[in-house]
Amino acid sequence: MAASASYLSLVVLVALAAVVSGQLSPTFYDTSCTRALATIKSGVMAAVSSDPRMGASLLRLHFHDCFVQGCDASVLLSGMEQNAIPNNGSLRGFGVIDSIKTQIEAICAQTVSCADILTVAARDSVVAVRISSYDPRRAIMEVPLGRRDSIDANEAAANSDLPGPTSSRSDLELAFSNKGLLTVDMVALSGAHTIGQAQCGTFKDRIYNETNIDTTFATSLRANCPRSNGDGSLANLDTTTANTLHNAYYTNLMSQKGLLHSDQVLFNNDTTDNTVRNFASNPAAFSSAFTTAMIKMGNIAPKMGTQGQIRLSCSRVNS
Ligand code: HEM
Repeated sequence: MAASASYLSLVVLVALAAVVSGQLSPTFYDTSCTRALATIKSGVMAAVSSDPRMGASLLRLHFHDCFVQGCDASVLLSGMEQNAIPNNGSLRGFGVIDSIKTQIEAICAQTVSCADILTVAARDSVVAVRISSYDPRRAIMEVPLGRRDSIDANEAAANSDLPGPTSSRSDLELAFSNKGLLTVDMVALSGAHTIGQAQCGTFKDRIYNETNIDTTFATSLRANCPRSNGDGSLANLDTTTANTLHNAYYTNLMSQKGLLHSDQVLFNNDTTDNTVRNFASNPAAFSSAFTTAMIKMGNIAPKMGTQGQIRLSCSRVNS
């Protein structure tokens, strides 16, 4: 009964995603490039197995792509958005996407967009790092495809549209609502911070000056993040499990162990507290909300039809 209910909700979710996305469809490459998805998956699995942090980095790359003029691979173009403050010296995974693109060009020339490769790579990264108790059918997360690549990028928009680690809760809500995402989507997607790492410069102020932080947690972080210097030293976003995506992020917030200021504001005697409590106590609710929000994020302003182009190389527009 429970299984059929969750299957039904997956079918509804996929159908809803297809309606919302117009021409995007999970079967977009089924005839034009039958091996596209398998090639992306094996590229992601190989990258994550040699560098376990890479799943986190690819997921973040997709977020930073979609929030700046839509999911159009603009972030992959050399320079430009890559020089923006939230990205410079921080985004990773460009080489993994470039290498998957090279493999795909060899089997299906100029057919599969970089924007779709990045979208599927983010999905496969989530699958690679999910906890085993997730409903496997949900974890498959059929993503609508058919995006095309931009012929430009926008550094100024990357600076203005991406939220920062010192953002307030209302700033975060605004950044997400500007992209058509709800507060519950924002709280669910922030659960991505149960994997990967952050540089000391992004949380230094929090561990030395904020009061809504567990004392032992703050002290343990200070050793590797001194008051002066060391801005590039890394700490796990989730102190307990750096390479597994699960709802521990929310229990950490309830214990005042959010690493970034922008994490802890989600549980700070405010309107998002109840959503955090729900996701902390109910892994299935988190899994479902995360899946829904990922698909919504992947549907932000895609280029379709004759817009943009299918790049030959993800790091530059076609000549
Ligand atoms: C809510 C607003 C968000 C803010 C303010 C934020 C900010 C940050 C910052 C400052 C870092 C550390 C970067 C560094 O030090 O190099 C980070 C890492 C990360 N973020 Fe976010 N983020 C947000 C939302 C998201 C979303 C929506 C996702 C994906 C769905 C995401 C996925 C990640 C991942 C996986 C990492 C670790 C990356 C790695 O280890 O390479 N973040 N984020």
